[in-house]
Amino acid sequence: MTAPPASSLPSPALLPAIAQRRSLRAFDSTPVAESVLVRLLEAARWAPSSRNLQPWHFVVVPREDAAVHASLAAALTGRNPLWAPAAPLMIVALARLRDEQDRPIRMAAYDLGQAVAQLAIQAVAEGLMVHQMGGFDAAAVRVAIGAPEGLEPMTVIAVGRPGDPAGLPPELRALEAAPRTRRPLESFVSRGRYAG
Ligand SMILES: Cc1cc2nc3c(=O)[nH]c(=O)nc-3n(C[C@H](O)[C@H](O)[C@H](O)COP(=O)(O)O)c2cc1C
Repeated sequence: MTAPPASSLPSPALLPAIAQRRSLRAFDSTPVAESVLVRLLEAARWAPSSRNLQPWHFVVVPREDAAVHASLAAALTGRNPLWAPAAPLMIVALARLRDEQDRPIRMAAYDLGQAVAQLAIQAVAEGLMVHQMGGFDAAAVRVAIGAPEGLEPMTVIAVGRPGDPAGLPPELRALEAAPRTRRPLESFVSRGRYAG
């Protein structure tokens, strides 16, 4: 097998929803239809998980839910508050870290990530974009959405249709056009035994 180079374009042989997924920042404000939102959550629901524990919870916060939305937006950090609140909805993805016997769920973050990956791919297939964020104040997110103990906010996910980059602050506009980069396969794949 010939390893693809560290190019800025995914192979055209990939599923279109994988190749086309991007974490851009320009969102259109058009609301996401409830039926579409349910399909995104269904895509997450049918993700595999260790022991089928499904250790996740999603809190959906549309812009119309103005008070919670404002608190959640205020909990974002870095440059995230400059673009994410313009998306028609944000979803807080939470991992359940302990099972019913109060034992740690070692794979919780892995399982949640996989569920979100499925949600993201479904979103692209629906003509939507999702942009996950780890840049937030977890304590403030907890307060904003009323998350109970034992559920850990892992990402806040902006969801909506791709929008016009002209509406972004200038420092973010350039990022939208930046080339995508990935490490080449041979830098992270070994055969037989580990070779770093
Ligand atoms: C767990 C996680 C946390 C991330 N946090 C942020 C963030 O806080 N702000 C941001 O702009 N992008 C964030 N991203 C998006 C990544 O920067 C992006 O996925 C990466 O640069 C690859 O770009 P692509 O998704 O367009 O392929 C995050 C992505 C993941 C998976």
